[in-house]
Amino acid sequence: MRVFKKISDLRNYLHSSSKKVGCVPTMGNIHNGHLSLVKLAKENCDTVITTIFVNPMQFGPNEDFSGYPRTLDQDIEKLEKNGCDIVFCPGIDEIYPDNQEVAIALPKISRRLEGRFRPSLFSGVATVVTKLFNIVSPDVAIFGKKDYQQLAIIKMLVKQLSMNVQIISGETIRDEDGLALSSRNRYLDKTEREIAPQLNVVIKEIKESLEKKDTNYVAMEYEAGQVLSRKGWDVDYVVIRTQNGLLRPSENDTELVVLGAAKLGQTRLIDNVEVFV
Ligand code: PAJ
Repeated sequence: MRVFKKISDLRNYLHSSSKKVGCVPTMGNIHNGHLSLVKLAKENCDTVITTIFVNPMQFGPNEDFSGYPRTLDQDIEKLEKNGCDIVFCPGIDEIYPDNQEVAIALPKISRRLEGRFRPSLFSGVATVVTKLFNIVSPDVAIFGKKDYQQLAIIKMLVKQLSMNVQIISGETIRDEDGLALSSRNRYLDKTEREIAPQLNVVIKEIKESLEKKDTNYVAMEYEAGQVLSRKGWDVDYVVIRTQNGLLRPSENDTELVVLGAAKLGQTRLIDNVEVFV
């Protein structure tokens, strides 16, 4: 496996071969969720490049940019063992040599759900992903359904800006008790870690009700929020949306997704499950 920190070195290396390149963008602190995307990239491409960059532009002023776990040595070891061919781990000045003034105007979907609670998130994500695609020129890029809204926005970005990259999505990898793997799980103390799977439990309960043709969407969302609040969560949202566009569903919609975001102490967790009714 090769490790690059400079864009010029990476480009020289990549352009010397004509193999199909798959890119897995990450912020590091590599876990089995990320590794499942590397595996998917490997199945679809000849050369797999994982990028590791904790992107300051997507963090709000009161978010965890400085405390975000940075574990580069262990990350490189895990990626090497899991068949990754290249790691690109640039410093901040390599990605943002200037004050970043050029921005992409994102559609309405970016201001809903996560965007309401984290206003700088998606413009930061869209900017860095565009830059990474321009640096790597991948044929394929892999993103997890764990960040469902991010995936939807990246698909729109690629389509509407005619980017020459195919987006493949990977399923959410979970711990045995249902908690979706996330770099932020390490912020949870022991008691919080025990409670944490409840977010997935309420989402799955809504999934079961939907599968039984319950269409009282607002009542289900409200009840789930109440259950979590009573258990000590600070709930941002638990909602039922259409998979396509993340809109409020009507009774005829059959491809739905239940999305939730809530805080346990200082730690904000998100989760979702797709539902086909
Ligand atoms: P990060 O949170 O490191 O996630 C990198 C990729 O791993 C994303 O596509 C995310 O959806 C996926 N992922 C995270 N947890 C997962 C899980 N439990 N199962 C499956 N996939 C999972 O998302 C970002 O970084 C950044 O916003 C980024 C796209 C890199 C832009 O900075």
